[in-house]
Amino acid sequence: MPTNVSEPQAVSGTVTRSAIFIVATLNDGDAHADTIRAWCADVAALVRAVGHRVPGGNLSCVCGFGSDAWDRLFGGPRPAALHPFRELGTGERVAVATPGDLLLHIRAESMDLCFELATQLLGKLGDAIQVVDEVHGFRNFDMRAMIGFVDGTENPAGREATDFTVIGDEDAEFAGGSYVIVQKYLHDMAGWNALPVETQELIIGRKKLSDIELDEEIKPSSSHSSLTTLVENGQEVKILRDNMPFGRPGAGEFGTYFIGYARSPAPIEKMLENMFVGLPPGNYDRLLDFSKAVTGSLFFIPSADLLEALADRQGPSASDGHPAPAPSAAPHREGSLNIGSLKGNRQYE
Ligand code: HEM
Repeated sequence: MPTNVSEPQAVSGTVTRSAIFIVATLNDGDAHADTIRAWCADVAALVRAVGHRVPGGNLSCVCGFGSDAWDRLFGGPRPAALHPFRELGTGERVAVATPGDLLLHIRAESMDLCFELATQLLGKLGDAIQVVDEVHGFRNFDMRAMIGFVDGTENPAGREATDFTVIGDEDAEFAGGSYVIVQKYLHDMAGWNALPVETQELIIGRKKLSDIELDEEIKPSSSHSSLTTLVENGQEVKILRDNMPFGRPGAGEFGTYFIGYARSPAPIEKMLENMFVGLPPGNYDRLLDFSKAVTGSLFFIPSADLLEALADRQGPSASDGHPAPAPSAAPHREGSLNIGSLKGNRQYE
């Protein structure tokens, strides 16, 4: 990797056994905005201080900002494709949009590390923010999702993961950054478990025990795997997921926290459209008959270098006396995922 390229945050971190997902909204007031900007310069040091105490603990934290929060905290320039999460679907099947200004995705081998870092990071933020959702995820047997299927198999790895998740020349000012969409799903486990395993396999598109993909002749076009496989100009476009099961058996709560990183929101949004609306419309993801999205937010992840530098930015009102610019709509071209060229853009080698 050349030294003049912005270092990404730990987006493609190692697979860990534990995670905490925190979504927060910003509280009003210039003093709170100052607190959050100053905090940006402290994140890396806190991860180092907590993580160093447990060698091999693989502690990391990725932090991101929602569209409105970006304008309020940092003004312009803004990441080209940053916009609020777009709700889609109708009736029983809706990918809801819920409030979210700040995301913390904390990962480690053990929950004590995640817990301590979350405590330290939130402690510094104090009453500048309001936590609106906090999920403690655990790695299930065999890398299995709550629904019993192995999850994460088709994730890109190594340089491919970087190519699919890290912004390059298409938005040079924000190179080294990423986008992420998070959704909290709750499952009807009684309904799901009542299905024959063969039916579940047709819904996911893979064998339950062996995790082998179903043959094309028997895999339905409505399978989760078919609807989330994107091909553009003959090339597959991937995203990087690190979903985690979570829940409270005593309360009958069984969930999957979906988290998907990419260098543009477009491929994740296209997958969501395929799942919720269907491809063609009506040919939707039957996993959604047993899974309800109860949150949904989109965030920009600045590079590690930019995150630290954001501490020196001034809010829009402080810098020019004008209100924050309106969030710009993401560029949208029919039939294109707007991710720029994936080839010949390997600047993170
Ligand atoms: C209820 C929530 C979800 C569950 C339990 C779930 C579970 C799974 C499982 C078990 C697989 C197969 C193994 C693998 O390759 O990882 C898979 C694949 C995949 N999922 Fe999901 N998923 C969920 C939501 C989503 C969402 C919301 C998206 C995107 C917006 C998504 C994108 C993908 C992709 C891209 C693949 C790989 C497809 C392939 O290349 O075959 N998933 N998911």
